[in-house]
Amino acid sequence: MSARLNLLSPEVRANPYPFFAELRRTAPVSQVEPAGMWAVSRYAEALTVLKNPQLFFSAGMAALMTPPWLGRGNPSVNSILFMDPPQHGRLRALVSRAFNASALNRLEPRIRDFATSLVKALPADGGVDFVSAFALPLPASVIGELLGLDPSLHSRFKRWSNDLVSVSAVPPEDVAMQTRVRQSLDEMEHHMKEVLEDRRRQPREDMVSDLLRAQVEGERLTEEELVGFLVLLLSGGLETTMHLLAQAARVFIEEPGVLARLRAEPSRIPAFIEEVLRYEPPIHLTIRQTTQEVELGGARLPKGALVAVLLGSVNHDEAQFPQGDRFDMDQPGTQNLSFGHGIHFCLGAQLARLEARLGLEALLARFGSVERGEAPEEWSPSMMVRGLSSLPVRLREGDQKTP
Ligand code: HEM
Repeated sequence: MSARLNLLSPEVRANPYPFFAELRRTAPVSQVEPAGMWAVSRYAEALTVLKNPQLFFSAGMAALMTPPWLGRGNPSVNSILFMDPPQHGRLRALVSRAFNASALNRLEPRIRDFATSLVKALPADGGVDFVSAFALPLPASVIGELLGLDPSLHSRFKRWSNDLVSVSAVPPEDVAMQTRVRQSLDEMEHHMKEVLEDRRRQPREDMVSDLLRAQVEGERLTEEELVGFLVLLLSGGLETTMHLLAQAARVFIEEPGVLARLRAEPSRIPAFIEEVLRYEPPIHLTIRQTTQEVELGGARLPKGALVAVLLGSVNHDEAQFPQGDRFDMDQPGTQNLSFGHGIHFCLGAQLARLEARLGLEALLARFGSVERGEAPEEWSPSMMVRGLSSLPVRLREGDQKTP
C-alpha cells in the first residue's frame, strides 16, 4: 500500500473490510490517517497491545478528550477507560460489583418488559425505522434504569452520548458544535450528580446505591470518579448496544434463513449474537499510546505513538477466522475481540449480551420476517463506532411464539 490509508475517507467508511484485508496482508502495523496513528490490523499484534498496558497505555487519551475549547473538565476522563495500573485496578474492583450476576438478575425482568412492550408497539406488516423504534430505545431504557435517571430524559441520551464521543473530533472553527457539546456535558453532569445526591439520601436496591456503598480495603469512589463512571456507562452502553441490535436486524434482511432458524431454535440466539459482534463489531477501533519505543509486527513505533487497534479488522483476520469476511453463525473457534481484551475488557459485556438476547427473543416471538424498507439505510459518521443510525425495515408477523 503506497499512500497512507485514511480511515475517515468515504470509501473506507462505506466498506472498510477490503482495506483492512490489504493492511493485514501487506502492512499489519503501519501508519494511517488521521493523526498518523499506527494501525494494528492483525489479531496476534492486537492481543499484544491490549495485554500490555505497561507498553501501551490509556491515560494519554485524556488529552484528546479535553481540548482547550472545552473550557471545562470532561467527566468521562475520570473513568476507568482512561486509567492504567495501578489506579485502574483499584477503581475496577470498586465498580465491578455493580455488574455482577446478582445485579444482572435484578435487571433481567425489567429488560424483558422493555423489550416486550417495544415489540408490541412495532407495526404489524408495516414499515418502520428499526433503529429509532427498537434498537435505540431498548438500551436507552436499560441505561436509564441502571443509572436511575428520569425516563423523561431518555430522549436526550443519544445527543449526550454522541456529543461526548465527538469531543475529540469537533473542528476548532465549529463554535456551534462546541457550544452544544459543552451544554451536553453540563446537563449530563448535572443529572448524574442529582441521582447521586438522591441515592445518598435514600439508598435503594440499584446500581447507583451499590456504587455508593462499594468499598475495597477501606477506599470508596470519589464524587468525580462516580460521575465519570456514570457518564462512561451512558456513552459506552448506549450506542454500542444499539448498533449490535441494528446489525442483527440487517443480517435478518440479508440472510432470511437465519431468522427462520433462530425462530425454530431460540437456543442458538447467543451464538448468533456472538457472530454479529464478530462480523460487525460496534466499536471499530480502540486507541492506546506507547510508553517507550516498541517493536510490533515488524514495525518500530516511537515513544508516544498513537496506536489504533482495528477491532473490525482483527475480527476478520483469516489466521483466526478462516472465513472471516463471511457471516456464519456456526463459525467455530477463537473468541472475537469486540469487547476488547485484558484489563479494559468491557464491563458491560454480559449486560449487552443479555439485552441483545432478550430483545431478539421478544422480536422473533412476534415477527417471522424482516425485509428491507423503502428508504436507504444510514451509517453513523463516527470513526470509532461503526453502525447504522437508521435502518428502514418492513416487519411481517409470523406464528406467535412464547419468548
Ligand atoms: C455491544 C455492546 C458493547 C460493545 C461492543 C462494547 C465494547 C467495549 C470495548 C471494546 C471496550 C474496551 C475498550 C478499550 O479497551 O479501550 C469496552 C469497555 C467498557 N465498556 Fe463496553 N461495550 C458494549 C456495551 C457496554 C455496556 C452495555 C456497558 C455498560 C452499561 C459497557 C461499559 C463498559 C465499560 C465501563 C468499559 C471500560 C472497562 C475498563 O476500562 O476497565 N459497555 N466496551
